[in-house]
Amino acid sequence: MQHRPLGRTGLSVSTISFGAWAIGGSWGPVDDDASMAALHAAIDEGVNFVDTADVYGDGRSERLVATLRKARREPIAVATKAGRRLPSQTADGYTRENLAGWIDRSLRTLETDTIDLLQLHCPHPAVYDRPEVFGILDDLTRAGKIRHYGVSVETVDEALKAIRYPNLETVQIIFNPFRLKPADRFFEEAAAKQVGIIVRVPLASGLLSGKLRRDSVFDPEDHRAFNREGQAFDKGETFSGVPYDLALSAVDDVRPLVPEGWTMAQFALRWILMWDAVSCTIPGARTVAQARENAAAAELPAITPEAMSAVRRIYSTRLAPVVHASW
Ligand SMILES: NC(=O)c1ccc[n+]([C@@H]2O[C@H](COP(=O)([O-])OP(=O)(O)OC[C@H]3O[C@@H](n4cnc5c(N)ncnc54)[C@H](OP(=O)(O)O)[C@@H]3O)[C@@H](O)[C@H]2O)c1
Repeated sequence: MQHRPLGRTGLSVSTISFGAWAIGGSWGPVDDDASMAALHAAIDEGVNFVDTADVYGDGRSERLVATLRKARREPIAVATKAGRRLPSQTADGYTRENLAGWIDRSLRTLETDTIDLLQLHCPHPAVYDRPEVFGILDDLTRAGKIRHYGVSVETVDEALKAIRYPNLETVQIIFNPFRLKPADRFFEEAAAKQVGIIVRVPLASGLLSGKLRRDSVFDPEDHRAFNREGQAFDKGETFSGVPYDLALSAVDDVRPLVPEGWTMAQFALRWILMWDAVSCTIPGARTVAQARENAAAAELPAITPEAMSAVRRIYSTRLAPVVHASW
């Protein structure tokens, strides 16, 4: 496993870390035994950082992560998130009382005294213009409830606004071969401020594993069935916001670029790590096999300049017209 600094936090995180949304909920039925096995497999492979949220399965994901930490001797840093317990997203909901309450709840569920990294969970866009919200996070850091804080953003513009706050240490953002704007407009600025970048949705919700087909069937409780048009949350979180048929056809364009012996998921993950500004990526994994395959991507050699250019060409010609302006 390779490691990189997570911004100025002092944490050195595995370049392939673990995204714990799918083991909580919103991806169809979950099997806690399979989820625990996937988590353990990731740690066995050297993963030392897990991203979760209070709302993933209403605490189910955080509970599994707590069980994992109790079972393992290796240090495992945990990032969780707050803000999505609001009945609807408003900047006014980010009060001291609410933030403290959400964080106390996560502390209890995670069975810990302090949260390694607390991220605002795609907050209402107006939050980025409210210094008082970040002041509250400073107070909660001083009080020892959280060690570090960051934000999970929807757009590059939000990311650029967020890093104006001097004590904000990380930004979580979607970046993958179907979403290139962060590399062009954000990474350099973040690196200059030593802000850690956590890349989410690296496989475009599984599309970039190459296994999905036109006739793939998703459980009605899986966001890949119920959120394609953004019915429940930002549509960019589902398939990276790319219309399904177009995405499948772009996946076919990526297929010939995958070196022999690699899976397409590994190609997508290694592609993300080609950017030095990225601290880590957090693929979601629901099985031992996925966790192992994903972790192994950290050790793969660099992707050739030809393949890098080919991905950019696919993005510029086929995907940018539908996604670039939105995020
Ligand atoms: N707003 C936010 O802050 C936010 C939003 C989204 C995600 N996140 C974080 O980012 C993490 C990653 O994003 P994500 O889970 O949405 O998307 P993702 O990592 O792009 O896709 C994960 C899905 O891809 C499939 N998969 C994973 N590894 C695979 C492999 N090796 N081969 C084949 N299929 C594989 C699995 O689904 P199937 O096996 O079911 O196909 C898995 O659930 C989340 O877990 C969460 O921690 C945060």
